[in-house]
Amino acid sequence: MPDSSQVTPYKDVNTSKKKQVTSMFDGIAPYYDFLNRFLSLGIDVIWRKKAIKQLQNVRHETILDVATGTADLAIEAALSLKPLKINGLDISKEMLRLGDKKIEAKNLTSVITLEHGDSENLPYQSDTFDVAMSAYGVRNFENLIAGLKEMYRVIQPGGTIMVLEFSKPKVFPLKQFFGIYFKYLLPLIGRIKSRDPKAYSYLYESVQVFPDYHQFTAKLEEAGFKQTKFIPLTGGICTIYLGTK
Ligand SMILES: C[S@@+](CC[C@H](N)C(=O)[O-])C[C@H]1O[C@@H](n2cnc3c(N)ncnc32)[C@H](O)[C@@H]1O
Repeated sequence: MPDSSQVTPYKDVNTSKKKQVTSMFDGIAPYYDFLNRFLSLGIDVIWRKKAIKQLQNVRHETILDVATGTADLAIEAALSLKPLKINGLDISKEMLRLGDKKIEAKNLTSVITLEHGDSENLPYQSDTFDVAMSAYGVRNFENLIAGLKEMYRVIQPGGTIMVLEFSKPKVFPLKQFFGIYFKYLLPLIGRIKSRDPKAYSYLYESVQVFPDYHQFTAKLEEAGFKQTKFIPLTGGICTIYLGTK
């Protein structure tokens, strides 16, 4: 089985995964929020809320949201954790442009700042943030360990990493149902709505090869994190991962 760095949206061997992922998200940005809500029946909102709740009892005055996209996780954190500052970073300028609009509409510009950048080369000093987090972002990194190591570097000692990512459900009949939904139905609806035939097949393919549960906590530990744990959501369709620097 290929590793996640080899699974790319457009399968163009002459273009890096990073470039392909960037142009894919630039292209689907206008449809991204709608498709998230529609394809998950709104459950993606609940998953983000549950993930942010895990940060209530750790220090969270300064937060970095890596691969922030249209800023849904950053907005949820601002509203429910009331931190001093959230920096959101993403490689897709179009996703950020729509995120900025949402932050303005919610009067959160004094709390959340969005920046263009690459998760594998974060433009922040070491030991800066209380929390580094990412929702549905790390699966898209070209080099997963490099991205996780960068999150480790910019967190203060004792700080927390929180990752929310798709995982593969293991139990009958969820495993079978989601296999069919993710592989066939979701790419079909995604293709019609986002006008990108590849984007939602990539979603299925990238989830299949991505490390989940213990395999992902092993990656967190490889990047330096301690006290790692995971919390499966909705039968393991999604999982929250936590670790400490
Ligand atoms: C599925 S979206 C998730 C967006 C958001 N976190 C959410 O919860 O909806 C994945 C995001 O990862 C971003 N991304 C992928 N690779 C990246 C990288 N190397 N550096 C920064 N952002 C990246 C994409 O541009 C995209 O906005």
